[in-house]
Amino acid sequence: MSRSTVVAHSNIALAKYWGKADALRNLPAVPSLSLTLDRLTTRTEVAFDAAFERDELVLDGAPTLGRPLERASMLLDRVRALAGLREHARVESRNDFPTAAGLASSASGFAALAFAAARAAGLDLGFGPLSALARASSASAARSFHGGFVRLRAGAEEAEQVAPAEHWPLRLLVVQTARGAKSVGSTSGMQHTAVTSPYYPAWVASAPSVFAEVERAVLARDLEALGHAAEHSALAMHASMLAARPAVVYFAPITLRVLHEVTAQRARGVPAWCTMDAGPHVKVLTDLGHAESLATHLRGLEGVHDVTIASPGPAARELAP
Ligand code: DP6
Repeated sequence: MSRSTVVAHSNIALAKYWGKADALRNLPAVPSLSLTLDRLTTRTEVAFDAAFERDELVLDGAPTLGRPLERASMLLDRVRALAGLREHARVESRNDFPTAAGLASSASGFAALAFAAARAAGLDLGFGPLSALARASSASAARSFHGGFVRLRAGAEEAEQVAPAEHWPLRLLVVQTARGAKSVGSTSGMQHTAVTSPYYPAWVASAPSVFAEVERAVLARDLEALGHAAEHSALAMHASMLAARPAVVYFAPITLRVLHEVTAQRARGVPAWCTMDAGPHVKVLTDLGHAESLATHLRGLEGVHDVTIASPGPAARELAP
């Protein structure tokens, strides 16, 4: 038996990816830029063995079938083809946060799976090819190989680091507003948006300049410029979904409540801006000096389950056997 265990960190896009230039190869239609988080991690062990009769996936302690197993097997097939291997695999994966609730579990999950599967298969790939391998399963996962600030260009195979975690000690509050799996997965949500939303072409046309704003603000460590651009990117992405037919709506009442509260805090001089992914949770960008008091304030809102304070985090890594 050959095995490997990897820890990968989740990432939150400050300039969002939504839509594919090539659905078959899973290449993004727009450039995105993310922050890898120190919190919210996935730990995945992959073992290949000739005695296994099929691929198995155990997610947070529960044997898993259906679409999650299919997606894992497709990635394992690509690894087997690269390594010239025929053995089936057993995959055991644990998130230290709720799975499939719009908290970026596919990003850390597919990054950890691609890395551990490649290593267990004996492949010695660098972060570039590993990132491309994960991207083919889930584009946001390409960004989780690197620490700090990471970009994935439109149409790109692999993600690249813009700046390491030490570049800027920002804080990102992960405001959990609901429990349970999300209603529409991001893959089908973005495909439905691309096919039915009249605002999708406008989203694709405007995303590169918003991405450039986000990238400039990150390099200049300009929190106000970054906050405005990141909040705009998230809301423009959600606007394209709201115009789909039928609409893709990830907002819950508490989501809007948090958005309004953050706007109100900002009016009082607190540096805080929102971003949201394909789920009802809100992530709030702020600085070190305001993170604790803002988290305490948001925890007090009825309907908020939990607030986690995250900092820029490290690259994915293989654990010693
Ligand atoms: C809203 O990477 O989950 O989180 O490539 O189809 O697997 P697939 O989509 P996925 O989409 C993430 C969308 C997002 C924005 C982002 O992370 O950039």
